[in-house]
Amino acid sequence: MIHMKMIALWKLVLSLTLTGSIHCGKVLVFPHDGSHWVNMNILIQELHNRGHNITVIRASDSWYIKEQSPYYHSITIDFSLGGDEAFFATFVSRQLQIRREGSSLWTRFSLDMELKNRFSAVHRNISEMVIHIIEDPKLIGSIREAEYDVMLTDPVNGGGVVLAHYLRLPLICNARWTVHGEAHFAIAPSPLSYVPLPLSMLTDQMTFFQRVYNMLYYYLRLYLYKSIVGPHYSALCNRYFGPDVDYFELFQAADFWLMRVNFVFEFPRPTMPNVAYMGCFQCRPAKALPDDFEDFMKSSGEHGVVLVSLGTLVGQLPDTIADEMAAALSKLPQKVIWRYSGKKPSTLGNNTILRDWLPQNDLLGHPKTKVFVSHGGTNGILEAIYHGTPIVGLPVVFDQHDNLARMKYKGVAQVIDIATLNENEFHKALQEVINKPSYSLNMNRLSRLLRDTPVEPLDNAMFWIEFVMRHRGAPHLRTESYKMPWACRKRREKQD
Ligand SMILES: *[C@@H]1O[C@H](CO)[C@@H](O)[C@H](O)[C@H]1NC(C)=O
Ligand SMILES: *[C@@H]1O[C@H](CO)[C@@H](O)[C@H](O)[C@H]1NC(C)=O
Ligand SMILES: *[C@@H]1O[C@H](CO)[C@@H](O)[C@H](O)[C@H]1NC(C)=O
Repeated sequence: MIHMKMIALWKLVLSLTLTGSIHCGKVLVFPHDGSHWVNMNILIQELHNRGHNITVIRASDSWYIKEQSPYYHSITIDFSLGGDEAFFATFVSRQLQIRREGSSLWTRFSLDMELKNRFSAVHRNISEMVIHIIEDPKLIGSIREAEYDVMLTDPVNGGGVVLAHYLRLPLICNARWTVHGEAHFAIAPSPLSYVPLPLSMLTDQMTFFQRVYNMLYYYLRLYLYKSIVGPHYSALCNRYFGPDVDYFELFQAADFWLMRVNFVFEFPRPTMPNVAYMGCFQCRPAKALPDDFEDFMKSSGEHGVVLVSLGTLVGQLPDTIADEMAAALSKLPQKVIWRYSGKKPSTLGNNTILRDWLPQNDLLGHPKTKVFVSHGGTNGILEAIYHGTPIVGLPVVFDQHDNLARMKYKGVAQVIDIATLNENEFHKALQEVINKPSYSLNMNRLSRLLRDTPVEPLDNAMFWIEFVMRHRGAPHLRTESYKMPWACRKRREKQD
């Protein structure tokens, strides 16, 4: 009891000192559109609530980032960034089709090449947008005049990083990824003997051969990242800062990193003084559900409810996969809420309702919810951990396989290849996770660990953003390690 009171008091003191210490900082945000924006927007709203003045840079054809908002001003660049959800939705269904049919290596390879070209185009377009900003004298003049205190960016694209350097603004990254992969690898020592490369599906317990694989995989990915993003950002840096400035050094020189992970999810690894962990900063206790959902939850009785959501990219599945899933779900004694906007599967059971949209966090935290069927996006996984709901994972693309492999390793999930999913296999996995107590016991343990923190992750993030504004940067927390390879190269060039 005394312990709880101390924590409450500490939080009060902390929030008082925080709100009292800086008045109305000016924050310039260069976000990344799409699902990444959802995270950034939460930080923006909280910054706004604390009285800061936020300005967001967006392209004129931005799909998630709205021009008008009660929380921020926007600077709309008269530039079409392109890139639409439609591409990725089609890409996902084509990839599923290919995996399902066991198509030729060549087909897979050409789809991968398409994705690679797509990513390259995304970064090319971002670079062009930055040129557009810098070379519009009126625009860049007004940004200069506004005298921002800090640039907040998602370093999964390099726009904010380059612009911050150009404007000489302190830089804060809201990150899980940079343009070169997992964000820790950009700044912290990452011994490949026990730090598994994200996406490798390895854990921190590696055999000798797995370590070798981890290392080869590291170099392969580095090569890929460099060849995909390197040319665009090198050209951009060369244009404004001359040939001596390496684009990736600008990332590594960021003042502070707000990492969207937590060590219940991440394997333990070396880290840096200018990193704060804010994984699950979007997690909230469940609120009361709308009446129709609450009635449905109650009607499930002792068996409870299965929650199915495969994210925004998988609105529609190939018919055969949706049918197999629906058939397996129809055999359960549980009731099922499925976020799905595609054609109604022919095998849909009378225990299942389909919805375009779900109050996911409130459903995950509902006592009737037994299991979360998820594609394995980081946000969804952290929310499931927060609420102690075990997972049946159906990973589709990107980091999802790896995210779910970690959850399986921790004994809180079963994972199935959605491309080859069949009714029986899916039904068996659901039954196992619902009926075997270890899954929810393990998940509840992770939940207790995740929630037991001295400061709420969002408050922690706010503290550090305000810290960087108060002190105009945080170079005393940043190691000089990132300058070393470059220094060697320069020395070599001099000898030549
Ligand atoms: C890049 O921009 C061009 C021109 O605006 C657009 O046609 C294209 O779809 C964009 N590409 C991507 C991947 O966003
Ligand atoms: C917030 O910043 C914008 C952009 O610099 C400026 O136009 C606006 O007046 C500021 N608002 C307040 C309340 O300071
Ligand atoms: C739902 O379907 C099951 C099996 O198909 C059937 O036994 C049950 O009566 C149906 N319930 C309702 C309310 O239609």
